[in-house]
Amino acid sequence: MVRSTAWLLGALLGLICVLPLVLMTPRTAQCTSLKTLENKLIGRRRNMKHNLPINYTIRVHYEEVFKLSNISRLRARVEDLEDGDLQDVWLLVNQEVLKRILRVLPVRHPSYKYTTDLEDLFRKVQQVFPPQTDEREPPERIEEIYKRVKEIDSKGWRFVTPKSLLDNCYRTMHCLFKDCFSSEDREQDCECTSFPYCTSSLPLPLNSALSN
Ligand SMILES: *[C@@H]1O[C@H](CO)[C@@H](O)[C@H](O)[C@H]1NC(C)=O
Ligand SMILES: *[C@@H]1O[C@H](CO)[C@@H](O)[C@H](O)[C@H]1NC(C)=O
Repeated sequence: MVRSTAWLLGALLGLICVLPLVLMTPRTAQCTSLKTLENKLIGRRRNMKHNLPINYTIRVHYEEVFKLSNISRLRARVEDLEDGDLQDVWLLVNQEVLKRILRVLPVRHPSYKYTTDLEDLFRKVQQVFPPQTDEREPPERIEEIYKRVKEIDSKGWRFVTPKSLLDNCYRTMHCLFKDCFSSEDREQDCECTSFPYCTSSLPLPLNSALSN
């Protein structure tokens, strides 16, 4: 009798210890990691604009410019596209973008640590989002993007400012992970039908002032 009570008590204690882990559902973990990333991205203006020479641009693949208009276009044109596919593209593209930014920053540059911190946060996000490819083949168009981003000798290069790349990252994040962000967090409408130019929910001059 005594022994079974002790066993029961032990089991109960064990349960109490495990419970918080069970309550931390995958969704909670995903949103926590994204919110941490969101907070860090708030510092992008100082780190990617003010700490860099005026109008400084870096060379990136066409595919590394991943904006809301791209999302709308892919949604409209690719059959069997799932949100998870777009989230995977977002993760890949932005990790490549960070690598490119780091390549031009000396270790002692004031934005270096900020950029490596972002890389770490991206890795954490990736850990809680199992890639779609574990379950099914992504659509061909998506596979093509993966391939092109990894190509070393690409024909399609563009010069863009690091700040605008991180702006894309920030805006698309709010639209691709709607479960984690409220609509007030968004700077722009997520559904953009007039691609290639998305109508902003803000008046245009105000919007361009914000993106500077
Ligand atoms: C930076 O770019 C803006 C807009 O394209 C331009 O008006 C400005 O003259 C440029 N500044 C320099 C220093 O090149
Ligand atoms: C996004 O659209 C631009 C053209 O507006 C294109 O060059 C780029 O490859 C697209 N990015 C992706 C990831 O599809």
